[in-house]
Amino acid sequence: TRVAVVFGGRSSEHAISVATAGGVLGAIDRDRYDVVPVGITARGRFVLQPDAPDRFQLADGVLPELAPSDTEVVWPSGGSHELRAVTPEGGLRPLGRVDVVLPLLHGPFGEDGTIQGLLAMSGLPYVGSGVMASALGTDKEFTKTVLGAAGIAVGRYAVVHRDDDRLAIDDRIAPLGWPVFVKPARAGSSVGVSRVTRPEELDEALRVAFAEDDKALVEAAVDGREIEMAVLGSRSGSGVRVSAVAGEIVVDGDGFYDFDAKYLADSPARTVCPADVTDAELAELRDVARRAFEALECSGLARVDVFLTAHGVVVNEINTIPGFTPISMFPMLWEASGLHYRELITDLIEQALE
Ligand code: DAL
Ligand code: MG
Repeated sequence: TRVAVVFGGRSSEHAISVATAGGVLGAIDRDRYDVVPVGITARGRFVLQPDAPDRFQLADGVLPELAPSDTEVVWPSGGSHELRAVTPEGGLRPLGRVDVVLPLLHGPFGEDGTIQGLLAMSGLPYVGSGVMASALGTDKEFTKTVLGAAGIAVGRYAVVHRDDDRLAIDDRIAPLGWPVFVKPARAGSSVGVSRVTRPEELDEALRVAFAEDDKALVEAAVDGREIEMAVLGSRSGSGVRVSAVAGEIVVDGDGFYDFDAKYLADSPARTVCPADVTDAELAELRDVARRAFEALECSGLARVDVFLTAHGVVVNEINTIPGFTPISMFPMLWEASGLHYRELITDLIEQALE
């Protein structure tokens, strides 16, 4: 089976995607799969990449990049499944047939339904959610709208658009209390996210969020433990599967799980897997994660991020292409559930081929 692994991309999570691909290229079962690494540059060009896992790792706090490449990849169309490269003379040279695509892209132009649409048009099977679930899952407003309509608890929030009147914004967010979290509606890895404790800090937080997107969410702080659950789609008629354990983000002091904490520095945040929860809490966490996955009609995989509060589980967001390096929470949750990293990758690819 020949797998096109697609990574990089146009979003602010480009480097995280490259790190995710480094993990996957290093672990994918080479007896089963031939791999074609395809990068997407920050400007959106599809380029052939070396099959060199080592150069795409996140090491010593340095974010990895795509390898320089002049070989532009032309995506198949019309059901041909043939990848081609543009030659220096402007002709096309065959790169061979691809059976399935593994998009390892985070954020806009990757996790949001855009590349899923391209792949659906091409007729190629691909790993993960389809166009609609990807688009919904990437948009923090519509995620909450759909989950709320399905009877799943979500936090309180206000939506702010770039050109909204400032007084109207103040009215909308007043009921949320302080602190609030200000986020771009469609980004990830906490890029553009601020924790705001005082009204005077709001303008700056909105400016930072609007650098990523024309729409921002202002979310009330939720009093609860920060828990993450991993979900896999159905394989061989198994139905949706949820990790047997929960993961927890523990933050010391007033910090939050920001970009640096996720990937770079020594930080006030750390991950605990498995989290110390009661059997009853775990059962509820697993149930809510499954229902969230199903409410958004996800497929393949997702990580569901929630708060465990005194009044039950409140969903924060869903990631349809979660971080996937070997030390990311999604693979750790499956490892702790008895599904090892390599088999997890196999599972995802085989789901797409079913
Ligand atoms: N958006 C990052 C990659 C995550 O959810 O893991
Ligand atoms: Mg996210």
